[in-house]
Amino acid sequence: MIVDFGGGFFLRRATAADRAALAAICLKTGDAGKDASGREDDPELLGLLYTVPYQVLEPELAFIVDSPSGAAGYLLGAADTAAFNASLASNWYPDLQRRVTDPGPDSSRWRGSDWARHRIHHPDFAVPPALAAYPSHGHIDLLPQARGKGIGRRAMEFLDQRLAASGSTGIHLEVTPQNDDALRFYKAIGFEVVQVPTCCVYVAKRLAQAPAIAG
Ligand SMILES: CC(C)(COP(=O)(O)OP(=O)(O)OC[C@H]1O[C@@H](n2cnc3c(N)ncnc32)[C@H](O)[C@@H]1OP(=O)(O)O)[C@@H](O)C(=O)NCCC(=O)NCCS
Repeated sequence: MIVDFGGGFFLRRATAADRAALAAICLKTGDAGKDASGREDDPELLGLLYTVPYQVLEPELAFIVDSPSGAAGYLLGAADTAAFNASLASNWYPDLQRRVTDPGPDSSRWRGSDWARHRIHHPDFAVPPALAAYPSHGHIDLLPQARGKGIGRRAMEFLDQRLAASGSTGIHLEVTPQNDDALRFYKAIGFEVVQVPTCCVYVAKRLAQAPAIAG
């Protein structure tokens, strides 16, 4: 246990045994924070895009929010987004691209998880210049039973501390613009909105320098 949230909820390091849970939680929160199960025809692809690679490529910043009924969320981070994206490009996507068929460029013909299949074959690893002051990034998704208890705030504070201790000067997270709840959450915990008109909405926060953490 790394952080005890009370009520049987706690933070622990994610392991390879948690990859199915990382994918399942990603699916259950993958539609702007709501369950995307009804939209996807392949329940694994969201996780293979957005969560599992963190446990594989940056395991020291991959955590599970555990509960009496099992995994109830995750907290994922990458200290150096540009380096993480380079690792994704060379160590993660090539195998994924061999296993998944590109649905082609005509999005009017896409069904189910085809948008994810297309993204796997046409990833965008560029980091917008507006995020230069925030080199780290993170992801947090909690299942309904873990929400509204202060766990999100404490988990993000923990990630901020870990990143600051590793020397990071700032963190950003990408937010689906329709996810008003998440945007309100990030503003409540001190993040500011960084609009990148050509693609998406980010929230970001500068990190104060902190002493290194062992382990
Ligand atoms: C968004 C999420 C991580 C927030 O975690 P949480 O544990 O529910 O949030 P907390 O209980 O720690 O709340 C922290 C603060 O944010 C505020 N907040 C949280 N959700 C809010 C909402 N929907 N509207 C307004 N404020 C909200 C709380 O009021 C609290 O403020 P306070 O500490 O000043 O009282 C969690 O609800 C979640 O995983 N949702 C579904 C998936 C998702 O949208 N993830 C984000 C993807 S970018």
